[in-house]
Amino acid sequence: ETLYIITPTYRRPEQIPELTRMAHTLMLIKNVHWLVIEDATVATKQVTKLLERTGLKFDHLIAPMPEKYKLKKGAKPRGVSNRNRGLQWIRANATRGVFYFADDDNTYDIELFDEIRKTKTVSMFPVGLCTKFGLSSPILKNGKFAGFYDGWVAGRKFPVDMAGFAVNVKFLHQRPNASMPFRAGYEEDGFLKSLAPFEPRDAQLLADNCTKVLAWHTQTKKNEPSAALDMKLYGSTNLVKLKQ
Ligand code: UGA
Ligand code: MN
Repeated sequence: ETLYIITPTYRRPEQIPELTRMAHTLMLIKNVHWLVIEDATVATKQVTKLLERTGLKFDHLIAPMPEKYKLKKGAKPRGVSNRNRGLQWIRANATRGVFYFADDDNTYDIELFDEIRKTKTVSMFPVGLCTKFGLSSPILKNGKFAGFYDGWVAGRKFPVDMAGFAVNVKFLHQRPNASMPFRAGYEEDGFLKSLAPFEPRDAQLLADNCTKVLAWHTQTKKNEPSAALDMKLYGSTNLVKLKQ
């Protein structure tokens, strides 16, 4: 079965290094199709070039965040237009397999991919390094679902991380209205609720009964945009001009 990896990304100094790291993880996996979706109006050429060099099966798409959210102060619904574009692509191009929302800056153990390939409906598993609770994970009692452990429950029915679940493509096809809401903090909850009928207890629990952490919510330190890096990555001019 093909594994569809839906990765939101956007142009910033860390973009190429993040995608390089992630690409090198996916290059170790068989039967993956990488959907790299940029929050941009024009696809970044350097990203396409990187994707071509990987030899992976991929599509490089664009899905800009709507202006009304971009201009909003405070928390923004990051990666939502990208992921909804990914769902649209899956609906149009895939009939079977499994998909997974994989942010470009996380760290993925290669074992994760064989695990999520088992997803028949919706699967869930632990994610490391989420908030000061250190972990976001389903809780099991006697081998059965008994709730969620998460540092920020906030009234969510599904207090899980974006990296903590995968979905079967056929299951998605049976839910033509499923989508992710533009609501910061409630993206996962809103999407999983839109998969109704689906309850937390219905989740297929992976990673050895949720005892293994195979996905990590790592975050890269933000770097200052720099003309020098831009020239190296995207430009053609040399650095001599900058030095003058
Ligand atoms: C957390 C969640 O894990 C995200 O899935 C969620 O979208 C985000 O919070 C949120 O609710 O805002 P976090 O590490 O804080 O993630 O967010 P980022 O890694 O900055 O962004 C999530 C994804 O969206 C990344 O793949 C990133 O490349 C992309 N993104 C971010 C955009 O496409 N556009 C942006 O303006 C910012
Ligand atoms: Mn992140």
